Amino acid sequence: MRSKIVAGNWKMNKTLKESKELVKALKKSIKGFTLDNTRVIIAPTYVNLQKVSKSTKKSAIEVAAQNMHQADSGAFTGEISAAMLKSVGVKVVILGHSERREYFGETDALLAQKVDQALKNKLEVIFCFGEVLEDRKNENHFKVVESQIKNALFHLNADAWPQLVLAYEPVWAIGTGETASPEQAQEMHAFIRNLVAEKYNNDVAENVSILYGGSVKPANAKEIFSKKDVDGGLIGGAALNADDFTALIKAI
Ligand code: PGA
Repeated sequence: MRSKIVAGNWKMNKTLKESKELVKALKKSIKGFTLDNTRVIIAPTYVNLQKVSKSTKKSAIEVAAQNMHQADSGAFTGEISAAMLKSVGVKVVILGHSERREYFGETDALLAQKVDQALKNKLEVIFCFGEVLEDRKNENHFKVVESQIKNALFHLNADAWPQLVLAYEPVWAIGTGETASPEQAQEMHAFIRNLVAEKYNNDVAENVSILYGGSVKPANAKEIFSKKDVDGGLIGGAALNADDFTALIKAI
């Protein structure tokens, strides 16, 4: 059975002190919860990964990195390798976030390499994709999402898929306060699951968690998460506040 997941992407927010405070508050607030088949993941910045990973070790909170380089090691100033992430206790990495695609020129071809590198190093991947507003307006959103998934993931064998989580994040809904309606999210998630079933089989498709991301807040989470093919959320803004993030975990 696929897991439900609430994952917080902290982006370029929180100093070390602030990260520690947020983790402390989160640990406290989820202590009494039964997290039945639900995973809670947080993705702090690189410099705070080690501390956060250490301080969450005995809790139900898992730690992810926000990005990773595709090479093993070498002259890539400013970059971080899979082995480095693993060495500080990280087991999950977010790849393909729209901000990486837009501001750092990450293409589907590059992301295919990053995915391979992560899987080779036994890191689980939360793979993000989604259309921009223009694609949605032109009704190209299914085509765009299909090509993002095909180009970066469909070279993989079926046995790699248990190491993947998909995150559909319509770019027009990220950080804008605008969310896809629960029906729009469900429609796209069902389309994605069907794509995976057609390429692989029903088993692979039914077992992959597909998260929705884009302005998920305590006020709208319950309705979005209640949809059949929505297995949780990748959260930006609302993950920066312990009360909001806790409310999202409760909503799942
Ligand atoms: P948001 O970000 O929740 O602030 O819209 C989502 C994301 O970028 O993953």
